[in-house]
Amino acid sequence: MSSLPMSSGSQVATITVGKANADADPDAAPGLTEVLTAHLGPEAALIPVTTVTWAPYEHVNVQGAVDRWLARNGAPFRLVGIAGFRHRSFGLSDLFHHSGTQGMAVGGVSVTDQPSGPGEQTRTCVQAGLYLVDGVDGPDDGDRTEDPRPPLVLLLRGTEQRGPQPDVSLEIACSDRALAREAAAEIRRLAVEVSVYRGHVIEFGAEMFGPHQSVLSFHERPVMTREELILPPGMLEGIEAQILGVNRHRAALLAHGQHLKRGVLLFGPPGTGKTHTVRYLMSRLPETTVIVLTANALRLIGQACEIARALQPALVVVEDVDLIAQDRSNHMNATPLLFQLLNEMDGLDGDADVTFLLTTNRVDVLEPALAMRPGRVDHAVEVPLPDATGRARLLDLYRGGLDLDLSDADTLIERTAGVTASFIKELIRRATLISLENQNHAEIPATGLRVSANHLDAALDVLTGSRHALTRRLLGAPEAMTD
Ligand SMILES: Nc1ncnc2c1ncn2[C@@H]1O[C@H](COP(=O)(O)OP(=O)(O)O)[C@@H](O)[C@H]1O
Ligand SMILES: [Mg+2]
Repeated sequence: MSSLPMSSGSQVATITVGKANADADPDAAPGLTEVLTAHLGPEAALIPVTTVTWAPYEHVNVQGAVDRWLARNGAPFRLVGIAGFRHRSFGLSDLFHHSGTQGMAVGGVSVTDQPSGPGEQTRTCVQAGLYLVDGVDGPDDGDRTEDPRPPLVLLLRGTEQRGPQPDVSLEIACSDRALAREAAAEIRRLAVEVSVYRGHVIEFGAEMFGPHQSVLSFHERPVMTREELILPPGMLEGIEAQILGVNRHRAALLAHGQHLKRGVLLFGPPGTGKTHTVRYLMSRLPETTVIVLTANALRLIGQACEIARALQPALVVVEDVDLIAQDRSNHMNATPLLFQLLNEMDGLDGDADVTFLLTTNRVDVLEPALAMRPGRVDHAVEVPLPDATGRARLLDLYRGGLDLDLSDADTLIERTAGVTASFIKELIRRATLISLENQNHAEIPATGLRVSANHLDAALDVLTGSRHALTRRLLGAPEAMTD
């Protein structure tokens, strides 16, 4: 966080009041009460205040909304900073009285950079500032003069970590209460309209700074082709029909009275490509807002659904749901988080274009809960271990640019019966390593490295050897593998 005078960016002439910066002696700076009274008039202290709050991660959107609202409103305004606001609990109405401003004064505008897009994109947001918006005379269009609009004051405050300010808040004071309410409603609406999260892949993390804090972070959307995903014939088509098809035919489905909301469950052994499939689907839905919830952030499912509803079309991804299904810490024998997830899935409007995509390695743990809450998941797909054809395709995929000797592929495919896709991938990597170890460094080609059938055999021997029982389990292979 830094403190600097900020111009208000209005198209009309503005003054930035920054006589004192935050470090200066507050007593020497103009009083906040005087500034507010000068703007709102002597009755300022009697003016009601309308308050709106948002979750911390909405700060960037609230700033965008305030900026847009000011531009639309068109009246001149100035932005006034507050010195000495940190760790202080106060509201706009407190500032109308001298007694409420102790230790605070007009100061430089304190700002904070908030993430606004993938990569390191950020946007500067006001951490604590008063927008003094002028009143305007009603336009005179000949026949009649519209009522003049009285002046307004907006107090914008970002979240203070560990401070008395858990939320982002906006307080609006105006002698015309309806006008203040209207502005509040409009800014609330605009915060959704301008949301920087729309159409991006975002992950909800657990709190870092206390029980109320949740963090959203941007992720790059994966880029994947269909060829990179080896699944039994027809399986991906089924998933795509359910997820992408509904997305494509959204308007027609609604017109014919069909709901859009859908729940897809991918289950199967670890390492078979459930996460891989999720990544592929994300890459196929470039316009869709993707909200990834990790199992430890699942109690934020309510907030995640709220974002999904606001920024639809949206995909809510909850991976490894079995982990939460097994969390029996809160209630005897119950799985409260899982039930909460299922309830949230049910609570969302059917015509919301929201897909829930769940994955699990342990469908047995999940099944009782899903059976008790029918209709939440309308497409459950088993992602199986690859069969012989699948293993052959995987060998082909993961050989990449290698000169891989597959003259005895049949034996290899037979020997790898029961392994996962990720095992095949690791097998090729190990064989490549063995090949590299056996080459003279100077002779290693830039591309097309030769990996012989012997290298593959040696790698498989290592992975199937007794010392690698745990490795096998981790990669997803039968306990004992024979040759
Ligand atoms: N069906 C598949 N097709 C191609 N590659 C796969 C497949 N399954 C797994 N892999 C490879 O193995 C890695 C781990 O798989 P992952 O999708 O994380 O497994 P899961 O989520 O089912 O436990 C993937 O990143 C990918 O490189
Ligand atoms: Mg996974």
